[in-house]
Amino acid sequence: MSKKLAINGGKRTVPEGFERPWPLITAEDKKAVMDVLDRGVLWGVSAPEVTALQEEWAKYVGTRHCLAVNSGTAALHIALAAAGISPGDEVITSAFSFLASSSCILHHNAIPVFVDIDPKTFNIDPKQIEEKISEKTKAIIPVHIHGLPADMDSINRIAKKYNLVVIEDACQAHGATYKGIKAGALGDMSAFSLNTTKNLAGGEGGLFNTNNEEYSDKAAMVRMFGEIPQKKGQKRDYNAYGMGWMYRSQEMPAAFTRSQLRRLDENNRLRCKNARYLTSHLKEIKGIISPSESEDSTHIYHIYRIRLNPKAMGIHMGAKEFRQKTQKALNAEGVNVMEWQFMPLPGQTLFQLKEGYGKGCPWSCTHARDIKYSVEDYPETVKLIDDSFIMRVPICPPNGLELMNHYVEAFRKVFDNIGEVIEL
Ligand SMILES: Cc1ncc(COP(=O)(O)O)c(C=O)c1O
Repeated sequence: MSKKLAINGGKRTVPEGFERPWPLITAEDKKAVMDVLDRGVLWGVSAPEVTALQEEWAKYVGTRHCLAVNSGTAALHIALAAAGISPGDEVITSAFSFLASSSCILHHNAIPVFVDIDPKTFNIDPKQIEEKISEKTKAIIPVHIHGLPADMDSINRIAKKYNLVVIEDACQAHGATYKGIKAGALGDMSAFSLNTTKNLAGGEGGLFNTNNEEYSDKAAMVRMFGEIPQKKGQKRDYNAYGMGWMYRSQEMPAAFTRSQLRRLDENNRLRCKNARYLTSHLKEIKGIISPSESEDSTHIYHIYRIRLNPKAMGIHMGAKEFRQKTQKALNAEGVNVMEWQFMPLPGQTLFQLKEGYGKGCPWSCTHARDIKYSVEDYPETVKLIDDSFIMRVPICPPNGLELMNHYVEAFRKVFDNIGEVIEL
């Protein structure tokens, strides 16, 4: 093996074309979609694939109800609507997530309030939640980030104390568990994404889960124009009973998702195997902090995040600069590491400008309290984003230990030559 770094003209460690894409699409997946076309029923709230997906996902997660929608964002939004969130209400969520964990709050004219993360789990830090609660706070959206469940006992305890609704953002956590209970059944309502990058890939789509019939009925209305969905054999009355959107799912993605669902547990097991293999080797390399697991939870590794600590290697360079140089060197070796999120959510222009719907709404709404968003208020999130990068596709099956071995080799090569890397 060449010891000269690829970035300096050496041979790359990971052979070109070795990494396989996600998701693996099988003959069964194709047949499931073709069967829909052969059947000729492409849509409908009670259409067979959508109905079956809802039943199967409710059973898988362990909730009484499930509604299929057309995105994870829609699933979050109908949950907020079902919770009765109204203009000016405040909803607490994590500063470290994908935008939708917070934009769903704005979609319902409410005000996102962010909390910094626990630097070990990257999930919302429950110790910092209570200081953010005001008389306007109505709900908490914990995000099970990267596939590791948030500290739900602490979050549910706080929610009970202040009478808040808990909506799990489980968009990255299909099949993860906390104290033996599946993510998605740990709060009052939950939302999953079926975006192709997710552990359960459906092209695009979302799933909403709850044990509460009232929430489910309300969410079903919001999913479809504010109408009460007609039961089989009933006539549609074309009457909106309240505000609604068009968030219905459709038959082809539902059929594809059902087919992928049959392999979800096995795929999660293989991801874990890849992730743990990487961790067992990378933790031997000084300066690398691999992700931690917890005894209470199963991590389903939607994302594998690696933190770097240059100081531990005696390197006095800013964490961000060190990470960028290392990332460049690893990419040249064929290691697919990248950034995921460039700033805490409140740092995004949407929150800095606070223009929203125009005229400053919803922040300028008479029902709302003045809320300020300063990135400095989320130091752990800033640190994490600066000093870490992620892997997504490489740990997904059909990629296995052969690819992981190449990766370990590439990491060793780059870190053995770290002096050259920081000169870049
Ligand atoms: C944590 C989190 N929440 C919400 C979403 C939104 O899901 P979707 O893209 O299906 O709307 C995503 C997916 O990108 C996500 O990762």
